[in-house]
Amino acid sequence: MSMSVGPSDSVPDEASVKAHIAAFEVDLRAAGSPRDAQAVRDRYLGRKNSIVASWMQSIGGAPPDQKKNIGRYANELKQAIEALWTDYQSAAAADRRPAGAVDVTLPGRMPRLGHRHPLTLVRAQMETIFTRMGLAIVEGPETEDEWHCFDALNMPAEHPARDMQDTLYLATPLRGDSGDADDFRTMLRTHTSSIQIRYMQAHQPPIRIVAPGRVYRRDDLDLTHTPMFTQMEGLVVGEGISLADLKGTLLAFARDMFSATSRVRFRPSFFPYTEPSAEVDISCWQCDGKGCAMCKQSGWLEIGGSGMVHPAVFEAVGYDPERYTGFAFGIGIERVAILRHQVQDIRLFFENDLRFLEQFPY
Ligand code: DAH
Repeated sequence: MSMSVGPSDSVPDEASVKAHIAAFEVDLRAAGSPRDAQAVRDRYLGRKNSIVASWMQSIGGAPPDQKKNIGRYANELKQAIEALWTDYQSAAAADRRPAGAVDVTLPGRMPRLGHRHPLTLVRAQMETIFTRMGLAIVEGPETEDEWHCFDALNMPAEHPARDMQDTLYLATPLRGDSGDADDFRTMLRTHTSSIQIRYMQAHQPPIRIVAPGRVYRRDDLDLTHTPMFTQMEGLVVGEGISLADLKGTLLAFARDMFSATSRVRFRPSFFPYTEPSAEVDISCWQCDGKGCAMCKQSGWLEIGGSGMVHPAVFEAVGYDPERYTGFAFGIGIERVAILRHQVQDIRLFFENDLRFLEQFPY
């Protein structure tokens, strides 16, 4: 290893500081290994026998008027060498890094994780509640024939109740999969009640199901209506099933979904496929029924329709209406989500605005 000869014996002054710095740079460049480099550094900066150390030591024996200067030059040299050493080390570290290497000391970049849509979350929550009660989850086709959607549900052609659901028909009918269904028009199902029919055609009682899914109506777009929305249908059929079972089931659902003090109210209503029929209200979980902005001061919130399955429906699927009774309900999933999370406008669920969706990150 070549080594420059520094003016180490001379009295420290401006010139010797410069000379040492230059000599240090030459020596360091000549160092063939990290260990050689360390030795160079120690010769200038080491605690013992280094140039800086000997300058510091010489202060003790120096004439008083020179002490201060020697101290200053020693410090200047020390700082300059330290700075050069730091530069040298980081350059050496960069050299050692293989090309394209990843700097593992940098903070990581978090991948953006998605999460489920609020309606999916609410549907999953409802499914959990109903499956815990022993109901199975089933699905049915979104394109449906008139027979499953209307006729079998006691709504023959020209029945005025069909007008309650403004229907979207397909221009070209799809072949039906149940015998004479070819004679019927194909449509986008207007409610999940059609799944009741499909399930009963394929199974014998006892039946305990919930059937979630999308439904379509020619509704105008406003704060509470969209042409597509989602429902969860419920159907329980067996011997001795009563209105009390319906009310108990919906009460248990409301208490789990909304509040432990929820109450359920039936309002007499009409559906062709149930008798008696009722709209289902739950006590407002915000004010516990006292009246507030959410329930428009009424104390109650509507979540869907329900009733005891009409004997004509059992006849349509070949069940003995003398032997079996059953209850059914249809709950709007958006409705539950709106009430549960106090969403002002149903369209928010379908606009894919992340500022809205990111408020449901669970
Ligand atoms: N199908 C009804 C609707 O879309 C909801 C409904 C009411 C479903 C009563 C039912 C029921 O099963 O029994 O508005």
